[in-house]
Amino acid sequence: LRTEALQELENVQSPQQLGDLRVKYLGKKGALTEILRGMGGLSAEERPIIGQVANDVRAAIEGVIDAKQEAFQQAETEGRLREETIDVTLPGVRQTAGAIHPLNKVAQEIEDIFTGMGYTIAEGPEVETDFYNFEALNLPKNHPARDMQDSFYVTDDILMRTHTSPVQVRTMKQMNGKPVKVICPGKVYRRDDDDATHSFQFVQVEGLVIDKNIRMSDLKGTLLQFAKQMFGAQTEIRLRPSFFPFTEPSAEVDVTCVKCSGHGCRMCKQTGWLEILGCGMVHPRVLEMGGYDPNEVSGFAFGMGIDRIALLKYGIDDIRHFYTNDIRFLNQFARM
Ligand code: PHE
Repeated sequence: LRTEALQELENVQSPQQLGDLRVKYLGKKGALTEILRGMGGLSAEERPIIGQVANDVRAAIEGVIDAKQEAFQQAETEGRLREETIDVTLPGVRQTAGAIHPLNKVAQEIEDIFTGMGYTIAEGPEVETDFYNFEALNLPKNHPARDMQDSFYVTDDILMRTHTSPVQVRTMKQMNGKPVKVICPGKVYRRDDDDATHSFQFVQVEGLVIDKNIRMSDLKGTLLQFAKQMFGAQTEIRLRPSFFPFTEPSAEVDVTCVKCSGHGCRMCKQTGWLEILGCGMVHPRVLEMGGYDPNEVSGFAFGMGIDRIALLKYGIDDIRHFYTNDIRFLNQFARM
């Protein structure tokens, strides 16, 4: 029995088999137990001798089984340690992270500057009615100035907004005669042929302030403060007389190309100035249509193209870069 058991134990491959053999030889119904049980039938002289032999065999088998078990356990532990090894010197797998689009970045910056001056942010729909986009801004049907903004019409009366000025009107109606101080960022659409400085869709920020005693000088001071924060403290602005149906008087505003001139922004080269926005004192008729009494309050408004601000700020020479989304172009702004 001993030889047989040791032989079998020699060939054991798994802890499972080992367990089976332990039962087979040492278990309650095991071979050895059987022999011990049969000892009752032996004579008094034989009993201690056989008993001694049986115990020796048991001890031998048990010893081998225990040793094997330990070996299995150790192998398992070693295996697990090997598997779980971490090589802390391996280089990491670099993940690419997204970044904010330059236009959104500039929009956020503009919003920060104006909220810093006490403005709140208002938004409106990109699909507008003729009334809000034109009529309520002192641009009745067949008004020649409608040609200034070639429009995408959805129906006779509904169009893609050509500017963010309709949000002025919506805000005035909402405020119901109370003072207004908002900026309105958003996409606008015009039937333009795309080129380096034009896009059929671009981004504007509108500003509107209405209160008692708002003057042109408030507008000028606001825009100067904005320009200095946006482009740097050396930046200057100039106002050129202009025309918009919804403001009177109206002006176009240029900024000095402080950042741009250095690395050859083609829009600035000749004059050193770049036009960035249109503005003026809100036309009395627009105030009236918005529910305000022009004899009680006055206001200023301005509207700027975020694309142009971004061109100027980063010295980019083609507006189309913002919309073609070449990853090599966009990546340059990830770390700015
Ligand atoms: N809405 C004008 C445009 O898109 C800009 C503007 C806004 C001018 C507000 C004056 C006042 O051209």
